[in-house]
Amino acid sequence: MSLPDWAPAGVDTTVPNAARVYDYALGGYHNFAVDREFAERAMQAWPGIGRVAYANRAYLGRAVEWLVDAGVRQFLDIGSGIPTLGNVHEVAQALAPDARVMYVDIDEVAVMHSEAILAGNPRAAAVQGDLRKPQEILANPRVQELLDLGQPVAVLLVAVLHFIADEDDPAGIVRELGDALVGGSYVAVSHFTRTTGLDSEQDRVTKLYDQTPTSVRARTPEQVAEILGGLELIGPGVVPATAWHPDPEVDEPEQPAVLAAVGRKSVAN
Ligand SMILES: C[S@@+](CC[C@H](N)C(=O)[O-])C[C@H]1O[C@@H](n2cnc3c(N)ncnc32)[C@H](O)[C@@H]1O
Repeated sequence: MSLPDWAPAGVDTTVPNAARVYDYALGGYHNFAVDREFAERAMQAWPGIGRVAYANRAYLGRAVEWLVDAGVRQFLDIGSGIPTLGNVHEVAQALAPDARVMYVDIDEVAVMHSEAILAGNPRAAAVQGDLRKPQEILANPRVQELLDLGQPVAVLLVAVLHFIADEDDPAGIVRELGDALVGGSYVAVSHFTRTTGLDSEQDRVTKLYDQTPTSVRARTPEQVAEILGGLELIGPGVVPATAWHPDPEVDEPEQPAVLAAVGRKSVAN
């Protein structure tokens, strides 16, 4: 099969991939037949899952706006995905042109496409990295070149922690990232959670993801709060993503299946 020009040589087009499935769910076109088939099966199993993806993406945009408003000018977006509607650098730089954004993703298609759309933007870049190895991300020369870790940074972990198994210690990962940041830095997260009345739909989707290299797990609001343990939770705490600083001008139905929260490293730490 010949690859489209946006696909890196050697990419595995036989296995569904979380970045490309999400891209398809959001109406993007950087995906292969295997990703589209998987996404269609997931949408059949849980017809509301597409709306959950949109609600998650909308939260990402609001969180970035809120963080810029709070004075943050540097973003480390890990598990950033394939560029699509409302990219972090677009949202942040529209409000603060001096904002710098480092995208990190484990998926080479996401990184390659991010690099292509960021060409010519001196304040945004993309590198491949694995959230399970936070020290490698922080030590990456391109991360160090773009971001000044001596100044506050917002780490964005949006819809990625649910791909991290308990054995890989998500709380430890967030702690390591937090330890590397100065006081006044933030960590913004969103995370899949179980919702009453959707048990069988969510079971079916979880089982589908179990057949891919990136299984997905739900966590409770308490578990998400624990993951952000060392940070002070910004109001309203851990809530459905649609309830995290909602835009009063947008009438968005609640999506309880995705939780959101932002933690801040206290200046005294
Ligand atoms: C559902 S997408 C979320 C994209 C974007 N953050 C958003 O919320 O719109 C999840 C992304 O996490 C990436 N990912 C999964 N496991 C990862 C890991 N261990 N390290 C870095 N990225 C990872 C996937 O490749 C995918 O692009």
